[in-house]
Amino acid sequence: RTTTYKPFSIKSQSAPVLSQDDLKKLAADKAVESVKSGMVLGLGTGSTAAFVVDKLGQLLSTGELSNIIGIPTSKRTQEQAASLNIPLTTLDSHPHIDLAIDGADEVDPNLDLVKGRGGALLREKMVEAASSAFIVVADDSKLVSGLGGSGLAMPVEVVQFCWKYNLVRLQGLFKDLGCDAKLRLAGDGSEKPYVTDNGNYIVDLYFKTPIKDGFAAGKEISALEGVVEHGLFLGMATSVIIAGKTGVEVMTK
Ligand code: 5RP
Repeated sequence: RTTTYKPFSIKSQSAPVLSQDDLKKLAADKAVESVKSGMVLGLGTGSTAAFVVDKLGQLLSTGELSNIIGIPTSKRTQEQAASLNIPLTTLDSHPHIDLAIDGADEVDPNLDLVKGRGGALLREKMVEAASSAFIVVADDSKLVSGLGGSGLAMPVEVVQFCWKYNLVRLQGLFKDLGCDAKLRLAGDGSEKPYVTDNGNYIVDLYFKTPIKDGFAAGKEISALEGVVEHGLFLGMATSVIIAGKTGVEVMTK
């Protein structure tokens, strides 16, 4: 089911030209409308989730929200939330989360997702699996007809020990889909690997053909010893808020 909200009309002469950041913020603001005082919240990671955290900080500072407590999904989000005076806790202290809000890298028509290009997939999956509701916020560039179909990375977090062995095994699992596996680098121009908040590496999988059965693929990946978590988030999102040039759409199952 899709509900469309049109904050502006595309026919209007005065329709604003929206940047991708504007779209991310529109989706974030719409999602924060679901936050109520007193909630335990899962706080996502990434540029779209950062707009959610900003908005929560703003609503707390004006008193429009009170008594919320957040569980961050990365050190980055933890720092941002702390700088905005958002009270924080952990899954150990609060194992039941009312609502998690997070971005995604790919969203398919079943509301299944690829996540983790920001490297936070493990904590995101733990927090979002513990949430009664999980709202995804994204701009419309994230919509795909099949997972793995964007041609961008599908991340798998692996232990550092013999990562190459696992990279080869992961690539081998998806030979039929023309899969290419690459170790993620730190991105500082060096050849140093990217290290997650959990001290692990990430192998990014690139598919020529989208994954046909996400559940089967997820099972096969998880069965490899040394794989910590994969970026397929299947059957987890309760709704997806997509912002595009013509408005904000809320997709629910
Ligand atoms: C981080 C994630 C992010 O939610 C995902 O990468 C989307 O990020 P952005 O909103 O910056 O496009 O999964 O691990």
